[in-house]
Amino acid sequence: MADTVAGANPDTHAAGDDPNRRDFIHIAAAAAAGGAVVGLAWPFIDQMNPSGDTLALASVEFDLTKVAEGQQVTIKWRGKPLFIRNRTGAEIARAVKDDGASMPDPQKDEDRHKPGKAQWLVLVGTCTHLGCVPTFGGGDYGGWFCPCHGSHYDVSGRIRKGPAPKNLAVPEYSFLSDTKVKVG
Ligand code: FES
Repeated sequence: MADTVAGANPDTHAAGDDPNRRDFIHIAAAAAAGGAVVGLAWPFIDQMNPSGDTLALASVEFDLTKVAEGQQVTIKWRGKPLFIRNRTGAEIARAVKDDGASMPDPQKDEDRHKPGKAQWLVLVGTCTHLGCVPTFGGGDYGGWFCPCHGSHYDVSGRIRKGPAPKNLAVPEYSFLSDTKVKVG
């Protein structure tokens, strides 16, 4: 019986090949290689971390009490203009009324502002055609007009006419309070 057990579990290690020694060599080699890779890679990885200045610009907080009804301010965010518009009741009504209109990039007005905050429109202020900055109050839809090649955006910032393919982008933002918004 003892022979059967011994035969079923033969020693697979060749004579002179000490398994403990062999495993140690493999582990040491792997550790050395890993250490070398990490040592070389770190300076490059470290360079990819954003600087403190960049992090500070990644998000911006804005005091909404500075924008009267019917006005908008343009602030700079991540190197781009950002429109913060305090819409009038008439603007909101017009935007909602046009929800069903034919548009190149259909979107409902309520999907372009935070729930219950229809008066506040926060938009990246670059035309989605070639990046010019549209101005408010021009064009055929009461919203923004891009003078570069004639794109008309409505009071929701949706593209309605012209070469721009997309609506003015709504960035990621949140309300910190009723009067303070954080973008980014
Ligand atoms: S960049 Fe605005 S229409 Fe061309």
